[in-house]
This record gives sequence, structure tokens and C-alpha cells, in this order.
Amino acid sequence: MKIVDLIKDGKPYIKQMIELLQTTFACYANIEDATQEVELLLSEERILLGVVIDDILIGLIGGIPTYNGNVYELHPLVIHHEYKKKGYGTQLIRVFEEEVKKRGAYTIYLGSDDEYNQTSLSNQDLYEDLWDKIKNIKNLNNHPYEFYLKNGFKIVGVVPDANGLGKPDIMMAKRVRDK
Ligand SMILES: CC(C)(COP(=O)(O)OP(=O)(O)OC[C@H]1O[C@@H](n2cnc3c(N)ncnc32)[C@H](O)[C@@H]1OP(=O)(O)O)[C@@H](O)C(=O)NCCC(=O)NCCS
Repeated sequence: MKIVDLIKDGKPYIKQMIELLQTTFACYANIEDATQEVELLLSEERILLGVVIDDILIGLIGGIPTYNGNVYELHPLVIHHEYKKKGYGTQLIRVFEEEVKKRGAYTIYLGSDDEYNQTSLSNQDLYEDLWDKIKNIKNLNNHPYEFYLKNGFKIVGVVPDANGLGKPDIMMAKRVRDK
């Protein structure tokens, strides 16, 4: 297993990057959309790291600098379905955090959509008692917010109805540098 800087050395993996996005995210199911997104992910100022096993790209993590470089948005993170729950996502997050820190940022944040009623925050009025609802969040069906909690992220808010009525985006963040 090796971690590859896909912005510097990603050319041989472009087709696999497109396939990973296509097979994981409904919004990139179309090859044109996935190809366009990969072009953006490879923008020079971003971070894009891949996990490669026997020359096969089995996962990737991307970062976008925002707030004058104080914050990196984590987007996207994907591990091929056959390799899930083997610790590769956690390994990618660790290397990503080091890279974000090296670039002088303080915070990583991300939005983790709840489009398919996977958490107890779906189908709720999130303008009422939001922090109680966040405190008592339940994972109803394998939503990745729990993966991020296990990796030290906290829920810092929601965007209600981000994916349609009752389908929020769950905002999460982690401090990577405090000096
Ligand atoms: C979310 C994702 C990146 C996790 O990667 P992974 O390699 O499977 O995760 P790891 O094996 O490092 O898991 C670390 C811990 O998180 C838990 N975990 C991972 N995915 C989880 C999920 N969907 N729901 C609940 N817990 C989860 C694991 O069980 C493990 O727990 P443990 O330490 O108690 O054993 C991967 O499942 C994925 O690519 N999903 C599809 C795309 C996606 O949802 N991306 C995130 C969009 S915001």
C-alpha cells in the first residue's frame, strides 16, 4: 500500500479516479460530470492524495483551501466499496491532516449530506432545538458522520434542507493546529 500525491503523480490514475467517483456518488454517475470533477480535484492549489495497492487506486481524499488558507474543506473522501472498513479511510485522513497542517491551516471542515434518511437529523425541523438534536444524533443506516466522529471531527452545525426538504447537510470540523 502506498499513498500517492495525485496532483503531482496522478496522471496514470485519472481513469481510476473517474471510476471511483462514478461508482460512489450519485451526482457523478454521469462520466462527463465525473471527468469534470476530477479536473477540478487536480487543481494546483488543492490537496489530492490516493491510496494505491498493487497499482490500483482504491481510495482518495481531496482538500480545497478556503478562508485565506486557514481552513481546508475536505472534499471528497472515498474508499472503493470492496476495501471499506479496513482502516484505509482513517489512514488517508491522518496523512491529509498532516498535509493541511504543513500548509499552515488550523481547521478541516466538511459537509456530509444526509440525502437518504440515514440519520436522526433527517425529516426534522432543525430550526427547533438543533443542539439537542445534534447531541442525540443516531446513525440509522451507515451514515459516514460516525466515521468522522471516530476520527476526531465534531458536528459544528447543519444546513437544513440542503438536499431537499428534510435532507440536511451535516457540517463537521476538526482542529489540526493550535499554534
Ligand atoms: C466513509 C468512508 C470514507 C470510510 O472509510 P473506511 O476505510 O471504510 O473507514 P475505516 O475502516 O477507516 O473506519 C474507521 C472507523 O469508522 C467506522 N465507519 C466507517 N464507515 C462508517 C459508516 N459509514 N458508518 C458508521 N461507522 C463507520 C468503522 O467501522 C471504523 O470503526 P472502528 O474504529 O470502531 O472499527 C468509506 O466508507 C466511503 O468511501 N464511503 C462512501 C463515500 C462516502 O460516504 N464518503 C464520505 C462523504 S462525506
